[in-house]
Amino acid sequence: MFYKELKKFPEHFLWGASTSAYQVEGAYNEDGKGMSVQDVHEPPEGITDFKIASDHYHHMKEDVKLMAELGLKAYRFSIAWTRILPNGAGEVNEKGVKFYNDLINELISHGIEPVVTMYHFDLPYELHKQGGWCNRKTIDAFVQYAKILFENYGDRVKYWLTINEQNVMINHPNAMNPGRLPTKKELYQQCHNMFVAAAKATILCHEMCPGGKIGPAPNITAIYPATCSPEDVIAADNWESIRCWLYLDVAVYGRYNSLVWAYLEEKGYTPVIEDGDMEIIAKAKPDYLGVNYYATATVSAARNDGTDCQPRNGDQQVMIGEEGVYRAAKNDHLEITDFGWMVDSIGMRVTLRRVYDRYHLPILITENGLGAKDELGEDGKIHDDYRIDYLKRHFHQAQLAVTDGVDLIGYCPWAFIDLVSTHQGYGKRYGFVYVNRGEDDLKDMRRICKDSYYWYKEVIKRNGIEE
Ligand code: BG6
Repeated sequence: MFYKELKKFPEHFLWGASTSAYQVEGAYNEDGKGMSVQDVHEPPEGITDFKIASDHYHHMKEDVKLMAELGLKAYRFSIAWTRILPNGAGEVNEKGVKFYNDLINELISHGIEPVVTMYHFDLPYELHKQGGWCNRKTIDAFVQYAKILFENYGDRVKYWLTINEQNVMINHPNAMNPGRLPTKKELYQQCHNMFVAAAKATILCHEMCPGGKIGPAPNITAIYPATCSPEDVIAADNWESIRCWLYLDVAVYGRYNSLVWAYLEEKGYTPVIEDGDMEIIAKAKPDYLGVNYYATATVSAARNDGTDCQPRNGDQQVMIGEEGVYRAAKNDHLEITDFGWMVDSIGMRVTLRRVYDRYHLPILITENGLGAKDELGEDGKIHDDYRIDYLKRHFHQAQLAVTDGVDLIGYCPWAFIDLVSTHQGYGKRYGFVYVNRGEDDLKDMRRICKDSYYWYKEVIKRNGIEE
């Protein structure tokens, strides 16, 4: 389809930015916070842990002021479950409740819409020790946690996201499971229990928060076949269903994707589904979909000769292949970042069109951005023109998706501020705002606005990139 004229981004478009609690807050053991699986995570040699991060916990007001100066319409952040319930369930930590209450009030006083992720990779360690998501007690704990959030913040928070990247937690489980890595069978049980927990929270949100909107936030990407060989097309179809559609089909249609169910049966990975689970899942109706998009993936047919699975490096955007199911293929049409992630702005349009076409629900881009080795220059500035270029291309494709008819309600790049990347610490930065610290050397934690910050400010003011 060719268009003479691009549609404008809608009025009240939620130009935002994202972070997650464990990657930005620090203060990992302060004011009654309990340990999460991320707090016990041992980073590789030379990479920082998540204990201090960008110390947002102690810089909250200063950071929100920078958001306001940027002109953000929305801020997507996550709540640390262990600040609210240090043991995952049971006793409530009032100081933790207060921190997010203050943050939400601060955002609202600056006209910034809070978009709250309830759970972003930081399962309470106490729950983990009792089996984590394999144990159905974690579903009850999540429901208790959800109730506390809705009771305390439901009067002001209109946009809720249940679980960040459930599909990444299942497909790349290493960073979320300290100790023994779960088997695939266990992972799909975790996955099912998360579906039930998210469904219960969705129903609760609708009961407890008048006007509240809630949805999932998976990492979704179109999967391309390496060639037009029908075998490659089938492999791409299979992997797109296993990686992406499973998660949105359960959330939106309230049923398992049939291709994926057949795969689970064949492999012996089917989860135990208790009586009533599917009724709860079917009853829970999301109001919108969060989509984290970084890059497409290209796959070819599996050879099933013991070589389909490539060595895993844990990165969520790097496909690893699965014996007999698909194998990762190279896409010579795309560039890659310094960290091996594909850059595919048009792929974002493809992805948004596919998601909207399947589900017909409003979409909020909850993450997208460029991880780079930003350097503080001698002039005291960060000239991240590569990030501006990346975002400009993606914003353009988002606008094309809007022109295609996709109901896109907002765009929250990752990240508002530099934070600890899931695998590469501060060596891989995403923020509009630089944090002056190294891996070990905390320096002065000063906030410095990058060139991309000033560029994004103009985009927001104009409600879009220049024509
Ligand atoms: C998403 C996660 O998968 O990608 C974020 O939701 C993460 O938590 C982001 O930081 C970028 O990934 P990374 O590995 O570069 O930090």
